[in-house]
Amino acid sequence: MLRSKIAGIGYYVPERVVTNNELTKIMDTTDEWIQERTGIQERRYCQKHEETTTSMGVAATRIACERAGIAPEDIDFIIFATLSPDYYFPGCGVLLQRELGITHREVGALDIRNQCSGFVYALSIADQFVRTGTYKNVLVVGSEMHSMGLDFSTRGRNVSVIFGDGAGAAIVQPTEDPGRGILSTKLHADGTYAEKLALINPGTHGGFHSRKLGEDIDFGYPPADSYGEIFFTPKMLADGMYYPNMEGQFVFKMAVQKFPEVIREALHEAGLQTTDIDMLIPHQANLRISQFVQRQLGLRDDQVWNNIQRYGNTTAASVPIALSEAWEAGKIKEGDLVCLAAFGSGFTWASALIRW
Ligand code: UT7
Repeated sequence: MLRSKIAGIGYYVPERVVTNNELTKIMDTTDEWIQERTGIQERRYCQKHEETTTSMGVAATRIACERAGIAPEDIDFIIFATLSPDYYFPGCGVLLQRELGITHREVGALDIRNQCSGFVYALSIADQFVRTGTYKNVLVVGSEMHSMGLDFSTRGRNVSVIFGDGAGAAIVQPTEDPGRGILSTKLHADGTYAEKLALINPGTHGGFHSRKLGEDIDFGYPPADSYGEIFFTPKMLADGMYYPNMEGQFVFKMAVQKFPEVIREALHEAGLQTTDIDMLIPHQANLRISQFVQRQLGLRDDQVWNNIQRYGNTTAASVPIALSEAWEAGKIKEGDLVCLAAFGSGFTWASALIRW
């Protein structure tokens, strides 16, 4: 039976380090608050006008290709996960294809909008294509440039201190080794709480804002029967309604419930137990969430990879960056059982079990 394996993985983070103390100069926050509530000490921000979500994805891709022993020309299909694309449309998949210089191959490019669980969703799609024999080298990218779209005033501090920029990429290939590869992937969503963690403007919704869930806000839109409505009104601009919003405590409570649930589900399907896990790579949402999940699963410190301290939350990029780092550090060896898990906006959540 054909299975898929991660043949190469790589990551890229911008050079510019932004410490918590730097943020205290532009908003009312403290290093103590950020570290105590999130575990974050610093994050990376892109060089404005020089780097983009796509260019970071390209940098990570080149490393993943090299480690997989392939050239970018060998890529059969592109899957790009991000919530911070270069353009509203088209997505980053085609931009990455162009920057890699492989447009002549005309391979398909798919964009994934699943926020923090985007990479695991994308990996699951790659797994299906590879196992059915459709493609031999699927590129899966998670990349985010949050620093261009956060509210750096005190109003946005609960969100802006958390997020950072970066990218990770993986090459997914077939393997006939029965002992190796992706054993199971589990994908879930519940749109009931879509606005609990969201960036809802600009959009086609027509007057609903997440700051107060369920309460209609008058945006000053033109009459419903007029044409060519503008997406932004002066009120929306003044109120900063184009920034992401999060009801942190609500999201936190859902995350600590769904992470262990979806991990156990993947284990169950593969006929394995929590004691079989060698390395857990949780989406880096909050160090307290990762530590809670670790306790729930009874894992030791050296069985969970955390790097939120250095990069913050990089959404779709966080799982591949952490996976890549753990691999580079020699913490993932052939035969190890690696578990990827993520939860985030949507809500969407997902897990993947890989025999490395
Ligand atoms: O990756 C996608 C999924 N995301 C998550 O899973 C995130 C889940 N949520 C969280 O990680 C946490 O809820 C946060 C880190 C976002 C917030 O931590 P919290 O312990 O839940 O704090 P809170 O939102 O309840 O706010 C507590 C206080 C408030 O002040 P008052 O009302 O108690 O006076 C906030 O205004 O902390 C205040 N606060 C801040 N103070 C200093 C909020 N942000 C900041 C800040 N600096 N940056």
